[in-house]
This record gives sequence, C-alpha cells and structure tokens, in this order.
Amino acid sequence: PTPPATPQYRPAYHFSPAAHWMNDPNGMVFYQGTYHLFFQYYPKASVWGPMHWGHATSTDLVKWQEQPIALFPDSLGYIFSGSAVVDSKNTSGFGKNGQTPLVAIFTHHDPKEEKKGTNKHQNQSLAYSLDAGKTWTKYTGNPVLKNPGIQDFRDPKVSWHEASKKWVMTLATKDRITFFSSPNLKDWTKLSEFGEKLGAHGGVWECPDLFPLTLNGKTHWVLIVNLNPGGPNGGSATQYFVGNFDGRTFTPSSTKTKWADYGPDDYAGVTWNNTGNRRIFLGWMSNWDYANQVPTSPWRNATTVPRELALRQVGQDIYLASQPVKELSKLAQPAVVLKDVAVNKEYDLASMIKNPGDKFQLKLSAKQLASFSLVLSNSKGEELVIGYDKAKNQYFIDRTKAGQSGFSNKFAGRHVAPRLATTSGTDLTLFFDASSVELFADQGLTVMSELFFPSEVLSTLKLKSDSAFAVQELAYSSMTPPMK
Ligand code: FRU
Repeated sequence: PTPPATPQYRPAYHFSPAAHWMNDPNGMVFYQGTYHLFFQYYPKASVWGPMHWGHATSTDLVKWQEQPIALFPDSLGYIFSGSAVVDSKNTSGFGKNGQTPLVAIFTHHDPKEEKKGTNKHQNQSLAYSLDAGKTWTKYTGNPVLKNPGIQDFRDPKVSWHEASKKWVMTLATKDRITFFSSPNLKDWTKLSEFGEKLGAHGGVWECPDLFPLTLNGKTHWVLIVNLNPGGPNGGSATQYFVGNFDGRTFTPSSTKTKWADYGPDDYAGVTWNNTGNRRIFLGWMSNWDYANQVPTSPWRNATTVPRELALRQVGQDIYLASQPVKELSKLAQPAVVLKDVAVNKEYDLASMIKNPGDKFQLKLSAKQLASFSLVLSNSKGEELVIGYDKAKNQYFIDRTKAGQSGFSNKFAGRHVAPRLATTSGTDLTLFFDASSVELFADQGLTVMSELFFPSEVLSTLKLKSDSAFAVQELAYSSMTPPMK
C-alpha cells in the first residue's frame, strides 16, 4: 500500500521524480542549450529495485522537466550509474549523415550472474542518442568493457582528454580507481590504478569523476571518489583528491582525506560534461543508511542543488570549494537585509521576517568568529540547530529533535564539519527547501547537506550566542518555486 502523500516534504527547487525511487544522478551532459540529468530510477516502487535511467531536462539548472525513462533493464542486466558524452567527432561511428551522437556509458549489472558468484556481473556498456537525448538505442556490441572478475566494477565517468586525444574512463573498482582509454568509446585499454592505499576506505569506492580546474593560471586535476559507507558523519559521502593527471596516471599532490560535503545527505555526486569552463556538480541528497526509509511519498529522494566547483588555496593545501550555481538567484525574492545585529544570548528573527516559510535562503556574515547557533523550531517543540562551535572550530547541524526520525536509528544526530578557512570572519549561506538544508560556509570551503522531516514547518527562527556575536549582515530571501 502507498503511504499517505507528503507534499509538505516535496522540494520546490531540487529535482525529485514525480513518483517512486531515485538514487544517483547519471549521464549529466549539457547539449544544445539543455542540461540533461539522468538518474538511477525504479519506476515500480519507492524502494531500490531493478535500475533504469530516469531522465529530466532543464535549460537553467533550476526548473526541471521530467522526461520519459531513457534506459530500461535488458538481458544484460540492470542499468547502473554512468556518464554521457557529446561525441562531436563521431569517434564511435554511431552518428549517421553527419549527426552528432550523444553516447551514454553505463554499468550493466546482471543479477543472474551475481548469484553465480563469479564476480563478473558488472560490465560497461553503451547506448546512443541521435535526437539530442530524447531516445536512446543500446549498442549491439555490449558490453564494451568486460569485467575481469572484480566484485565492484562500475560507474564509468568518461570524458575527452584533449592532450592525448582520447576518451578517458574513470571507473570505480572496489577499493581503487582504474583508468582506461579509448579512441572510439568501444575499445578500452587499461591505463593505471589509483588509491588502494590512499584516502578513506570505510566502504566501497563508487561513482568517480575526473576533471581539470585551474587555480592562479595552473591546471590541477580533481578526482572525485564517492564512498559507502565510511563518510565523515556516517554512511555514504563524497571524498576527493587534487593532483595531476598526465593522460595515464593520477598523482595526488596531497594525501589528506578531503570531503566535498561533510553532511550526511550528499552522495554519488559527479559533474556535468560539456559545460565549457564551468564545472557543475550535482549529488543525490540522501544516504544509503536510510534512503529506502525516508518518510516521503509518492517519491523517494531528490538531488542536491547544482554546485559550481572551484579550487582554493588554504595554507599549503588546495581544496575544492562548492557554491550553489548563480542561476538559483533567479528564484530568490528581494532580500530582507539586517545590518549589524548584536546577538546577546538570543535574537528573534521574527522582528525581521514574520513568516519565513520553508523554502528560503539565509545569508549571514560576521567579521569576527564566535560560537553561535541558528535555531529553527515549531509549536510541536521540534527544532533544527545549525551553527558554529568556536572551541572546536566546527560547523554543525543537529537534527536530533527536528521531527520524524523513527524510520531509521541512523537518522537522528548532530553532524559536524571542520571549518577549513583561516580568515578571521565568516560567511554562511543556507538553502532551505521543505525537508532539506544545504550549508555553504566560507564561500563553499565547508559544505553540509542535511535532510529533516518536521511534523510542522519550523517557522520560528532565533539566533543564539553566549559570546555577544556581532553579525555584520543577515539576509533572508524567500525562494519561489519555479513555474512548470
Ligand atoms: C551508488 C551506487 C552505484 C551503482 C548504483 C546502483 O549509490 O551503488 O555504485 O551504480 O548506486 O543503483
């Protein structure tokens, strides 16, 4: 039986399927003015099942239109995660009469083979589209990259490596990444392996990504590696390495474990292909610890907001900074701005904004750091607490009392993230959307994504501090849902 609908938890400006289950974003590619988002989808239930690629499109990364299912399971198995490229040189030969094919590279997961225990049940396959992503045809020569007998052998992220004029595939292979190259997307040669002894290994490595970013005129390569479990706050999370990729081998410039998002609810994130100089990341806003149990209906799970990535130098180290894409500002209503607020014990934001709703953006900046918390509460005594602990130099989000949590014993909790910035002041941007909050601190150096399910909107907002916290500026803007 379908549980009662929960429209109150439906995000307005994050993509979620109209109904049923979603997990990882897949095949993100920008082509002819359209951002394509495919996603792990099970159209028959709101729990994980035989995987399809669902499909949604957007022209602005804000307003999403769900499209017909792009890929269905077949005799080779379920359609697991993967990527899509614009094969503008028609290296694959799928293009006819000068057409440019879009090519999807995904994992075929064969449940029958899995039962045999041969460790050969995950293989890489192709599908192509000659109508700009509307319909897809599977390649008759699938699979194109066969499993040599590695239990986890999946989630190919393919992009064109200009220097070597080849396609490079970044594949998650259990406890490491394996790189392959190909001239035509069909024939793959192994290049190298990375990471068996580096980074976090609390679980299996999944959904990698590899791309260049420049910092002060120098190109660095970022290798994203999703991990489940073993995240900094439990369950699944996204780690990354910064280093060099020479077309064969990835060499990290630091061995420190770094996280793209410290919150519990950003997983399987990778970036769009074909977006020029912009590098846009999107994650699945959930966690395998409880993704099958979250109390939403008739859909389960959504994406994060799209985030633009950049590199930032902090001390000797280079970090990834994630900022919500600028397109989101289209939704923001004119801000209510307060300047120079001294928080002595408690400051009630009702003086600034009477009815904040549950879809809004809040920005806060301060010239000096002090411990503080933002407490959102309702008449049921539920509260969500977001703040900064100066003694520990940590940001935190505490959803212990923020509403429903009985669906999983791993959901309630207080989650922390290090403050990485070394500046004397801080800036925080919070994006609230019905049942989630995403925190971007210090211009995206520390990020946390977090779900919560209150039984009534948390519409009382208070700032609290025991140490006379001087807020330089506080800005609230309601986020209006995009028109369909
Ligand atoms: C990550 C993941 C991938 C896999 C997909 C299956 O969340 O486990 O490794 O391809 O989900 O749905």
